[in-house]
Formats: sequence, structure tokens, C-alpha cells
Amino acid sequence: MEESVEQTSKILLSLTVSEAAALKEGINFLKNKADGKSYILYKDGDIVRACKNVCKHQGGLFIMDMEDLTKNCVRCTKHNWKLDVSTMKYVNPPDSFSQDELVVESDTQNGLLLIELQPPNPWDIDPRNLEDLALGEVQVTYLTHACMDLKLGDKIMIFDPWLTGPAFARGWWLLHEPPNDWMERLCRADLIYISHMHSDHLSYPTLKRLAERKPNVPIYVGNTERPVFWYLNHSGIKLTNINVVPFGVWKEVDRNLRFMILMDGVHPEMDTCIIVEYKGHKILNTVDCTRPNGGRLPEKVDLMMSDFAGGASGFPMTFSGGKFTEAWKAQFIKTERKKLLNYKAQLVSELKPKVFCPFAGYFVEAHPSDSYIKETNLKNDPDELNRLIEKKCGDVLTWTPKPGATLDLAKVLRDSTDSIGIMNPPAGTKVFKDSWDFQPYIDILSAAVDDEIFRYPSWVKEYYTWAGFRGYNLVIRVIETDDDFNPFPGGYNYLVDFLDLSFPKERPNRDCPYEEIKARVNVVRYTVKHGLLWDDLYIGFQTRLQRDPDIYHHQFWNHFQIKLPLTPPDWTFFLAQHDKI
Ligand code: FES
Repeated sequence: MEESVEQTSKILLSLTVSEAAALKEGINFLKNKADGKSYILYKDGDIVRACKNVCKHQGGLFIMDMEDLTKNCVRCTKHNWKLDVSTMKYVNPPDSFSQDELVVESDTQNGLLLIELQPPNPWDIDPRNLEDLALGEVQVTYLTHACMDLKLGDKIMIFDPWLTGPAFARGWWLLHEPPNDWMERLCRADLIYISHMHSDHLSYPTLKRLAERKPNVPIYVGNTERPVFWYLNHSGIKLTNINVVPFGVWKEVDRNLRFMILMDGVHPEMDTCIIVEYKGHKILNTVDCTRPNGGRLPEKVDLMMSDFAGGASGFPMTFSGGKFTEAWKAQFIKTERKKLLNYKAQLVSELKPKVFCPFAGYFVEAHPSDSYIKETNLKNDPDELNRLIEKKCGDVLTWTPKPGATLDLAKVLRDSTDSIGIMNPPAGTKVFKDSWDFQPYIDILSAAVDDEIFRYPSWVKEYYTWAGFRGYNLVIRVIETDDDFNPFPGGYNYLVDFLDLSFPKERPNRDCPYEEIKARVNVVRYTVKHGLLWDDLYIGFQTRLQRDPDIYHHQFWNHFQIKLPLTPPDWTFFLAQHDKI
């Protein structure tokens, strides 16, 4: 079939010759009076650069950064990211992202135009006709957290199965009780989509159980820079049918069903989202993406599901010192959750799906040692988001899912006010978990504490050399602790200077940023031993942090959370060397 779409360009703003001549050197904030949209234009002699006044993070508005002496920077009013408009690079977080630029066309006859090149939307290529659905033909059943079971004609597709065990080491546990038949559902699946490597989406405890029953279950992941299943071989779990799918192209399943995986605009190296299309009906799952597909998404899909809760980070509840008082943290959480709620409501009102379902936020810090986090790391209420959406755009049907609840798409499309389009599980079905099987998972982590490698202090050098992060002006102190973050008797307490990858005894005298990381000994040693990413430590609330000055070191955290080598340190070789000594 011929492609029905082509690349286009759109004039976003045009300035007359005199308006263009009136632009000042440096930063100019501009607005298109017709549609109210805002732009930033930077002028340095003949050089002119421009971008939308929309923050890459969550769409916040930039204003002048009064603290910036270069006068080249703007500051986002939402979370204080800073953009140097002369380079179009973000300077806070440092060394992180670039802003998408607009094309600037100017001449002395016609003034100045800001133009956006618009590539075709990949989902518009090879369009399919919308066909009527029979009752029961498309059914979407919520299982837990980000896990949905989609019946699409005679095919079953499952999203992100986290159905047993913890995520992020021992920090996250399921809030909802999965339906009893979850394993049968997984075994029946024709396709399982795993959106990214975070363990609340790629759950090795769940996949271990599944692999024992059906190792060849077809699993689909996006072609991310860091492979989603980078840890599979080391995990010992035998899954034999993992398929890596290129971004932005339809993957045909049969004549009725296809899907397309898209990347995240903020974390393209690891985060993805998906469009599933059955007989022309689209289901959009933006999962955890911060800016799914850079903000370009299909409108008026039949069903959209998205995260909503917040709280999926160690910031700020694991921080102390300086401004991080309990009152500051509580206020920060309150404000940030509200912003996230408004951002999601805005996104939904712009995309106008027929049905919206908030999901992927149903976890709890259930282990008793994490009661402080559980009580303070408040999350958004899905009903509150749904009320906000209904207020903004009353024609969107919202669905707060209960485990085992099923949405019948045909019923909902025929009459979105028909409440029987959503079938809840029978009365009395347990919704919330009230107990978790902590001990087997804690035991696995704790076994690392007595591992032989930790008898030799040189493991520190071995590990950080393996990690491969250096040439960056930061010193960290890592202190191994017990569950209450008190120093672990006999535990390590060491410094790493990443400027030259040395291990000083004292904090260096030079002017260098410093971060103190207290980490639970069983989790940090398990992480070191197996070469795991530090999101288990950070997102899993297994650390307590202080930093001086109070700066987010994007390069450092990005390296240890995303870029560590794909194979663990060679501890066998390390031990053999020691045996020879
Ligand atoms: S910093 Fe701009 S939206 Fe978050």
C-alpha cells in the first residue's frame, strides 16, 4: 500500500521585518497571539536559534534565569531545569539533555519565520479501516501495577507482568492482589510486551515462575540502547523467545492485529511505550515515559493508559541535610504530585482518548524497615486524577482499575455511559494485598553480605574500575549500613574520587562536589557482586543521601543507573589473583 502521509513543515510564528529588527541580542520570549503558544529566540549577531518554550522534562514554561550571569539561560518554572539557549543544552541537570530546535528562516524582505519540520507520524503509515467490534472481541483486564491482559480477537497480549516478588531490590511490593489465575493468563499469552528494564516492569521473580512453565513464551521489547534483557543470561532464567522490535514501525501479528513500540523523549536509551491496533482500533500505553515519543502521540485512541502516581524515585525522601527538612520534603511531595496530576490531566485532555486508565503506580513500600518511606512518599490518587480529567473533558470515560476488572471495548464504544462496559470482579474479591512473602527475597540479598570478595578491601578498586566512570569532578563516600541506616558493624566506609578514580582516605581539600551515600549492606553488596544497576539502590529507597553542594549529578547517576557494563565484574578472576598472593 502507498504511504498516505508525508513529511510536512509548519510555520509556528512569523515576525514582520520590523518585529525581526526589534529583536534584542540574547534571549527573546515570543508569543504567537493567534494560538497563545510561546517560543524562545536567542540572537547573537547573525546567529539566531529558536525553540518552543516547552521544557523537555514535563512541558513546563521557561522564564529568565536571574541567577545566571551569562544571561544565556532560562529556568523552567516547574522543576527548575535550566536551559542554555545559546547552545540549546540543559545545564541543570548538568551535561544532560538537548532542546529540540526550530528552523529559523529570515531575510530582509519577509521578516523571520519559526518553522517546525514535522515528520509523518509512524502510526499513520499504512492506515487500516476501522471495523466494528463484536461484544467480547476486545477485552482488557487489569492484573496489577502496569500489567494488563488484552484479549484481541483470538490473540492474548500482556503488558509488563510484575505479579510476584519485590521490585527494586526489596523496596517495592505489589499494592494489589493479582487474580488467582495470573500464571494461567501468562501461559496463554501470544505476546508479552515488556516496556523497559525497571524491575516493576521486567520482573525476574515473575519471569522465573513463567519460564518454568513456558520458556518459549513470545516476549517483545523495544530496541533500546541498553538491551531490556541485558541481565537475562546472568539471571539464570531460561526464556527462549525474546524479540527485539525496531522503534516506530508496525509489527504485524496477523491481519487484524499489529503494534508499534515508540521511545521516550527524555530516556530514549531505556524507556518505551506502545500502540496496539486491532481492526483499526488503537490502544495507547505510555507506561512510565516522561515524554512519550517526544510528546507526539496519536489522538482520539480508544483506550489510553498511563502512569500517574509519582513517588518512583529516592528523591527527596531519602535525602537529608541542608534544605531537606521533613517539612520541606512534605511540601515538595505535595507540590510535585499536584504538578504531575495536572500534567497528566492536560495530556489526556489534549489527546482525547475515549477511555483513560491510570495505572503503573500501584506499589507500596511494604517492608517494615521502610515504614518511613511508606508513610511519607505519598502518591497520587487515581480517582483524583480521573475526577480532574472528567472536569477538563467530560467526554473521556475514566477507569480506575481493580485487579481482575475487565473493560469490554465494544460495549464502551457503543455507549460510553454504559457502566457494564467495565466488569468489576465479584464482590468480596480481595483488592489490596495485606501480606507479602519478604523473607525468601531478603535471604537472597543477604547471602551477598558474606561473599568471599568482600574479605578483600581491594574489591572497591576492582568494582569502580569495572564501572568505568571517571574524569568527573565528584567525590562520594559510601557507608554500608544495617536496615536502619546505622553503620554496619565491620562494614566498609570508603571514598571514591571520580576525577582520577582514586580512593583517598580523607575527603580531598580541593573544591569538589561531595555526596555521602549510606546503603543497606545486603542490597549494596548484592548490587556490587552481580554488577546490577543502582536503580535498585536509589529508586528502591535502599540509600540515604547527603550532598554538598546540593546538586543533582546527572552524569554520575545516569552512568550507575543506566550505563554500567553489561556483564558483571569478573570476581572469579579477582579471587584467583588473591589466592596467588
Ligand atoms: S523541569 Fe521543566 S517540566 Fe520539569
